[in-house]
Order: sequence, then structure tokens, then C-alpha cells
Amino acid sequence: MNRRIAEKAQRYFTTGISLVTSSGPHGQNVMAAEWTMQISYKPMLIAVFIHEGSATFENIKKTKEFGINVSSEGQTMAVNIAGGYSRREIDKLKVKGFFEFLSSRKIKSPMIAGCIVNVECKLVTMKKLGDHTMVVGRAVTISYDETKKPLIYHSGRYFRIGSIIVPFRKVVNVDTVTFNWFSIQAKNKFVLKCVGLIIKSNNKILVLKQTKNTPYLTIPFTVPKRGTKYSKILDFYLKKSGLSTINDTPILKRLTLKNKKKIQRINFVLFEGRIKSNIKNHTWKFSKLNPLLHALSN
Ligand SMILES: Cc1cc2nc3c(=O)[nH]c(=O)nc-3n(C[C@H](O)[C@H](O)[C@H](O)COP(=O)(O)O)c2cc1C
Repeated sequence: MNRRIAEKAQRYFTTGISLVTSSGPHGQNVMAAEWTMQISYKPMLIAVFIHEGSATFENIKKTKEFGINVSSEGQTMAVNIAGGYSRREIDKLKVKGFFEFLSSRKIKSPMIAGCIVNVECKLVTMKKLGDHTMVVGRAVTISYDETKKPLIYHSGRYFRIGSIIVPFRKVVNVDTVTFNWFSIQAKNKFVLKCVGLIIKSNNKILVLKQTKNTPYLTIPFTVPKRGTKYSKILDFYLKKSGLSTINDTPILKRLTLKNKKKIQRINFVLFEGRIKSNIKNHTWKFSKLNPLLHALSN
């Protein structure tokens, strides 16, 4: 690996910054740590990667507890102080004008006010990995402030969080019959996942009558169970139909079906198919005339 490129590249990772608090042989302390993350839901575990030369490391090793205070966008100076000096040099928490405290409930480490999340942690394990040590703590109390925004760290600089990027979905206006058909399939799920087959011929697309009782025609599709291999599920569904898939290349169509004021999100995973033998209940439709078929086939 080219060391020079690696040193530049590592600046392009993007993180938040935690203020890691502790209280031990070095007294009460705070350090900045960009390498902090939740690593388990139940139990809730937080990992922070700390260099062994820090006063914080020695404090945590001795007392087996620490605080994680996820910094908010107004705390750049607190982060600079916590990350720019060691407790061996100055008592950072006493620097005038930058730190206010919350009362700690289950640990002796101080907790910092004005953060977006505050977690009191009891040490679970420490493991040296490369030039840092992974320090894992179990959250014993946690609180958050939804009025605060996180501080973002990227290429050695601090940023605010930007605007939301809405994942792209094509909106398709459909008639009531089509809409109701899919919303029944969705069974109140936010997103309905469908795996289907696309067979095209001269601008037309093959559609099947889904059940005996519905007049509605759509491409052959089925609703897969979570975690099952989609191409296999589709092959199984198509087994007796006289249709089959051509290859294992998924085509993704993320749609929002709209009818009047109602919407239903659908994620189609489509495979190209062919007709193997005679099939029942089918017809060919011009995809251009039907907005849903058009969206699926283009
Ligand atoms: C923005 C920023 C992020 C940092 N992230 C980490 C980190 O994830 N792990 C680490 O060991 N040190 C990190 N540091 C460096 C420590 O905060 C620094 O060594 C600090 O002086 C240690 O304080 P202490 O000796 O009082 O514990 C970071 C520093 C800054 C400014």
C-alpha cells in the first residue's frame, strides 16, 4: 500500500466526534474521539478506539467506566480543547467558558451538557488493534437532545449536517383498481417488495391474470419472504407457468404508486424472462399505454 496515498485517503472518512469523559488516576478528564460508534443494540454497546498514550486510556483502564458525549455543532471549541491537549498538560474541563456539566447518574465520570447524546458506560472489554485500543462499554444510562444537531468531522475540518437526500423513487399515477391491488398485497407495510419477470416483445410486455377473481392484469410477480434468494423464489413461482428467467441479473425499480392522495411504495426486483412452453391467462400489452407497465419495462 502506498503510505502517502493512505494518509490522504484516511482524511476522507466522515465521522461525528465524541467527547470521552473519565475520572481516574489523572483526575476528571475529557478527550475527543472521532472513532466512536454503537456496535450492538441489545445489550447496547459502544466502542471507542483510544491510543494508549492518552490520560483517558489510563483512567478507563483503572476505573472501568467512561462517558460518551456526542458533540453537537456548537461545540467545536470544546472538541479542539479535548483533542488538542492532554490531561497531563492541563485540566481541560476547567478551561474557562467551554464546559458545562450534567449530573452523572451511574458512573463517576463527568457528563457534558450541550451534546446531542450522552451515554454512561461500564467497561466490557479492551482489545489492542493496530496502534489503538478498542474500548467497549455497555450503556447503563443514555439520554438525547432532539433540539441539537451533530457535529460532523471530515478531512480535518468540522461541518454541519446538510439537507436530507430523499432516495429516488419514480412516482407512478395509477388507477384505483391497480392501487388497491398492490396496497392489499402490501398488508400495511411501508414498502412492498416484489420479485417479477419482464418479458418484452415489440414494445409490448407480457402480463398475467393474477387470480381467478381479479380482473387486474400485471407482469408475473410474487412477494418474496425476507432473506430468501429472489431468483430462486421467482423460478419456484414460475415452475408450472411455462415461463422462466434468462439470467441472474436483477433490475431494480423503486416506485411510489399514487392514487388520489394515497401512496404505496413498491420495490420491484425484476429478472428478464422468456416463454418456454404454452401459457395460460396471459396477454401482451403496450407498455406505453399503462403507466405502471411503462415504469417497469423502461
Ligand atoms: C477531532 C479529533 C478527533 C480525535 N479522535 C481520536 C480518536 O478517535 N482516538 C484517539 O485515541 N484520539 C483521538 N484524538 C486525539 C485525542 O483527543 C488527543 O490525543 C487527546 O489529547 C487525548 O487526551 P488525554 O491525554 O487527556 O486523554 C482526536 C483528536 C481530535 C482533535
